[in-house]
Amino acid sequence: MTQVPTPQTFQEAYAGEAPWDIGRIQSAFAAIADHVKDPILDAGCGTGDMALYFAAKGHQVTGLDYLEEPIRRARAKAAERNLKVDFRVGDATKLTELTDRFNAVVDSGLFHVFTDDDRRKYVAGLAHVLNPGGRVFLMCFSNEEPGEFGPRRITRDELKSAFATGWQIQSIEPNYFEINPNFKGAKFSEGGPKTWFVTIERRT
Ligand SMILES: C[S@@+](CC[C@H](N)C(=O)[O-])C[C@H]1O[C@@H](n2cnc3c(N)ncnc32)[C@H](O)[C@@H]1O
Repeated sequence: MTQVPTPQTFQEAYAGEAPWDIGRIQSAFAAIADHVKDPILDAGCGTGDMALYFAAKGHQVTGLDYLEEPIRRARAKAAERNLKVDFRVGDATKLTELTDRFNAVVDSGLFHVFTDDDRRKYVAGLAHVLNPGGRVFLMCFSNEEPGEFGPRRITRDELKSAFATGWQIQSIEPNYFEINPNFKGAKFSEGGPKTWFVTIERRT
């Protein structure tokens, strides 16, 4: 069933094989990595592979997730690899409480977990933490992914509406999520669930 997940949904996923936890950055993000300027916020960073990828490129990175367990694992990976990332436990719907400012926010699989109300809070928070000219790079499930298994499907119109004021949407491109091969419940399109990869600039 399509669902708006709770913290417990994610806790249960991390207790097993979380489908998104592929042990490396998603290829869609690796493809645009050279366009991402630091300081970078990885919102909903999970176990930290994307944040660590950017840290390994020499960028200043903050990784935020509301669960202790993925942040614990992310910190352990950083220590093992001798990389510095500011991994924090925190709620991405409360970014307006942060005093930090970023030139980029990367979001792999967070935007599509929110209720309509939380989505509005999240986007307001993105506007708060991004410097003018800063960019959001996000990938979410697309309405072109058939069925109802997994997170909410998002349409182009919803993306345009969410980022209507104070933003310029630079591109909305079809892409796909790579899935953890050890996740056995996959009911997605062949090759991975269909997504939108979205690049948005903060204007004012
Ligand atoms: C689909 S997973 C993606 C994780 C990671 N970005 C990746 O690609 O591996 C979504 C992540 O967002 C986190 N999350 C969900 N709601 C959140 C919120 N309100 N604030 C911070 N993190 C949240 C979950 O705990 C989970 O780790």
